[in-house]
Amino acid sequence: MSSLWTDGRVETPSRPDEVAAVRTADVVVVGAGITGLTTALLLAHAGKKVVVVEARHIGACATGNTTGKVSVLQGSKLANVAGKHGTDTLRAYVLGNTEGRDWLLRYCDEHGISAQREDDHAYAQNEKGLGTARKILAACREANLDAQWVDEADVPFPFAGGVRLREQAQIDPMPYLSSVVTELERHGGTVLQGVRATSVSGVRSVTVTLRMTTRPDDTRDEDFSITAERCVLATGIPVLDRGFFFARAEPMRSYCMAFDVPGELTRSMYISVDSPTRSVRYAPVPGGEKLIVGGAGHPVGRADDPKSAVDELARWATLHYPGAVQTHFWSAQDYHPADELPYVGPLLPKLENILVATGFDKWGMTNGVAAALALTSRILGGRMDWAQAFASWSPHELSGIPTALQMNFEVGLHLAKGWVTPVTTPAGPPGEGEGIVTGPPWNLRACSVVDGVERTVSPVCPHLGGIVEWNNIDHAWECPLHGSRFAPDGTLLEGPATRGLT
Ligand SMILES: Cc1cc2nc3c(=O)[nH]c(=O)nc-3n(C[C@H](O)[C@H](O)[C@H](O)COP(=O)(O)OP(=O)(O)OC[C@H]3O[C@@H](n4cnc5c(N)ncnc54)[C@H](O)[C@@H]3O)c2cc1C
Ligand code: FES
Repeated sequence: MSSLWTDGRVETPSRPDEVAAVRTADVVVVGAGITGLTTALLLAHAGKKVVVVEARHIGACATGNTTGKVSVLQGSKLANVAGKHGTDTLRAYVLGNTEGRDWLLRYCDEHGISAQREDDHAYAQNEKGLGTARKILAACREANLDAQWVDEADVPFPFAGGVRLREQAQIDPMPYLSSVVTELERHGGTVLQGVRATSVSGVRSVTVTLRMTTRPDDTRDEDFSITAERCVLATGIPVLDRGFFFARAEPMRSYCMAFDVPGELTRSMYISVDSPTRSVRYAPVPGGEKLIVGGAGHPVGRADDPKSAVDELARWATLHYPGAVQTHFWSAQDYHPADELPYVGPLLPKLENILVATGFDKWGMTNGVAAALALTSRILGGRMDWAQAFASWSPHELSGIPTALQMNFEVGLHLAKGWVTPVTTPAGPPGEGEGIVTGPPWNLRACSVVDGVERTVSPVCPHLGGIVEWNNIDHAWECPLHGSRFAPDGTLLEGPATRGLT
């Protein structure tokens, strides 16, 4: 399963001797997505010695599997921020995202990276969604965005009305990441791939402990470490539990497909604001264009049958784009913050040497760059007033407490359910493409069959003991507590865990 963006890329993990050679840095950035790499480049431009440590490969998680819309409109996000926070915070959030968008597009223009300027729409599929769409328009006006109401659109799918924001953009994220890596290395930076950060310790300076995740010619579990003034965790959800970000943001997984479509494609970008979510854009590819459709989202590890929802999304696409032939399918997850605003700043209040960036709520093309700008200014001693809307610790979080309590109540329920269900509802052996958790609580087993290969691993998530659930479309184990994900053989894919299933 490769996204349209990562299809055909060959990734080369770093060699053990390359990793061992890096002992010190000014800043270690953990995670080579849009947030980590942009932060690293900005710091390298300022003369810092930067090392980026990436557990898998560049763009492995959300950034390489995004829809790639670079937009400040962001579906119903602005209405949600407006509903929880005052006008000043909404404006600061919009300003940060505008700066993130403009920085990214300027970089693309200066480096010959294709970015299509297109209008973006947040629309209602039927009358029930019009109220939400009107709230979005009001939030845009409150934030001084020049958005318009449109009753009709030149689209083949149901459209009851919505908001249009002109001159936003869409990109393929991988040429951007590749260009940033090249420029970073030219400025003395280093990118280590296939290297997982397993802990960060120290107060004045930090020591980042590393483990190679791919060791083709070395089967020992060999540890390495880098000492630095600071560490930036740009890992999606932070991989350190201090700060409890895993309890302040909910992991949400969603799915995308690319299609070859005969005839004309929808030009502008669209995302529905009512259920089920439909996200639509086109993508230029060699020799033509593809249609991209996204949706079918769910909290990680909590969907009974994600395959049905994905099948339904594919049927929707072929219904409205007759003759569409699916060429790619991919999925990813991002983190929905309890108070709607991203968390960018110290891991713990006043702890300036470990910084985090998370909670972009599926709008990280602009938020990730905004986070990079805010973190860089924080590290270099600059000032960015809009960054208060992105603070990792701030009084504005009080508005998220009811949501956070609800989220963690559900986490508790899923923890209990995971341990009890295999006893109360015993299941038979899994069929092809299936996974089940069986056994008594003292001997739980997660058994799966993929491509005829049977595998059994422990279902106990090494993060905080959740019991994993099978994702029947991704063929992966997912923890319903905080979103760690594992391959059928237990290999860690992503999330707050730092080890795989045993
Ligand atoms: C389906 C989907 C569609 C989306 N579409 C859009 C869109 O159209 N527009 C938009 O603005 N946003 C969109 N988003 C959101 C956007 O893609 C993300 O917010 C953004 O890519 C996050 O970037 P990041 O760099 O913070 O995280 P990531 O890209 O997830 O990067 C984190 C990196 O850290 C690495 N890592 C994790 N743990 C460790 C460790 N311990 N050691 C070393 N490395 C580690 C991971 O392997 C990963 O490469 C979408 C998200 C999803 C899920
Ligand atoms: S991700 Fe936290 S317990 Fe599994």
